[in-house]
Amino acid sequence: MADYKRLMSLANDMRAFSHVPYSNFRVGAVLVGKSGKEYTGCNIENAAFSPTICAERTAFAKAVSEGEKEFECIAIVGGRSGETSPLCAPCGVCRQVMAEFCDDDFKVILGTPDDFKVYTLKEILPLTFTSKEL
Ligand code: THU
Repeated sequence: MADYKRLMSLANDMRAFSHVPYSNFRVGAVLVGKSGKEYTGCNIENAAFSPTICAERTAFAKAVSEGEKEFECIAIVGGRSGETSPLCAPCGVCRQVMAEFCDDDFKVILGTPDDFKVYTLKEILPLTFTSKEL
């Protein structure tokens, strides 16, 4: 089983790379592929606002563009610069991206490196719209 505490600590470290001149809210993520490879991400904002990408989707884009499409878990840590939120839940767009690639039992680890909880994708995104509908 993945070492969730280490993943949360690494996710927290990734926040140093966040480009957040508009929100000053830093998010880091670590996505673990079924291969065991880890893909890190941070949020990257843009002056035009809508091109902003969340930390989670940065990690998915890195993984999929390197050929990995099956995943075990993602660790997410966020908060204002200099602080750590007790819980930074992924936005709806990121949950939908998770649903594109991940099974119902994909684990989403939320909280801080010292106090976190493990959720399943099914728990945080019920009634999912997927390719099965098409
Ligand atoms: N953000 C993430 O990167 N992930 C989340 O789970 C929530 C929000 C980013 C987007 C934006 O750069 C900043 O946090 C404030 O919304």
